[in-house]
Amino acid sequence: MKTALITGISRGIGKALAEKFLTEGHVVIGTSLSGTVDFSHEKLTVHQLDLTSSQSIRVCTEAIKKSDTKIDILVNNAGALFDEEETNVIIDKLRQTLEVNLIGTIDFTEHIIHAINKDGHIVNVSSSAGSLGGKSLTEIEFAKSSHFPFHYPAYKISKAALNMYTRTLAARFINEKTPVVVSSVHPGWVKTSMGGDGAPMLPVEAAEDIYRLAISQPETGQFWFKGEKHPW
Ligand SMILES: NC(=O)c1ccc[n+]([C@@H]2O[C@H](COP(=O)([O-])OP(=O)(O)OC[C@H]3O[C@@H](n4cnc5c(N)ncnc54)[C@H](OP(=O)(O)O)[C@@H]3O)[C@@H](O)[C@H]2O)c1
Repeated sequence: MKTALITGISRGIGKALAEKFLTEGHVVIGTSLSGTVDFSHEKLTVHQLDLTSSQSIRVCTEAIKKSDTKIDILVNNAGALFDEEETNVIIDKLRQTLEVNLIGTIDFTEHIIHAINKDGHIVNVSSSAGSLGGKSLTEIEFAKSSHFPFHYPAYKISKAALNMYTRTLAARFINEKTPVVVSSVHPGWVKTSMGGDGAPMLPVEAAEDIYRLAISQPETGQFWFKGEKHPW
């Protein structure tokens, strides 16, 4: 039995992932903006977390640390897409996006990092939209859909930068005897409020893949999609 800390479990992929961990008998500490979710379980606790607020990050991580729980798996799932219908970078939207997907996510991770077990796993839910090399799966998927030709640059920039956090964090742990593994994962294009109705995958399918990755001990500092390495 493992303890998983998952951000953004109120809906979408995060909710499906929390339910998967609970179904498999693990303990889940989840977060949502309101501090509540519409499901319950004896092994589930939920904390309020707004990644745009350093105060909220501090309060949330202090509360988790106070419970003296050691975390085996941290899934940084919470994320936001503010510029879905843009081709240009809108600075206000870029700031908003980076606050949630990058700065808040890093701030949260750095505050909780000492509560993560030595052989633990940090999984950053990224996106192929942030891939700099190779073909972006999301672009191929979107090219076939009505979302094309929007390019949501702020979102892409945020996920590319989050991937670099995965790399730098993995490198920080690498010389430890039992290093924490750090991974980025692309969940696929998923039917959620972010992914929209045209997406081909269900949240439970994405959750299944992320769960399998999270409970394994893969090569650290890699970007994954459906169990395979994804180009950075
Ligand atoms: N869906 C896709 O096709 C797709 C593709 C590639 C990557 N992803 C990534 O997968 C992850 C989950 O996406 P999703 O599709 O499940 O999105 P979603 O349905 O929109 O859910 C987003 C989650 O993030 C939380 N969240 C948003 N802003 C937050 C903030 N400021 N502070 C804390 N939590 C916040 C939300 O909490 P509240 O409900 O409490 O607001 C919600 O639980 C994201 O990182 C996303 O970038 C999704």
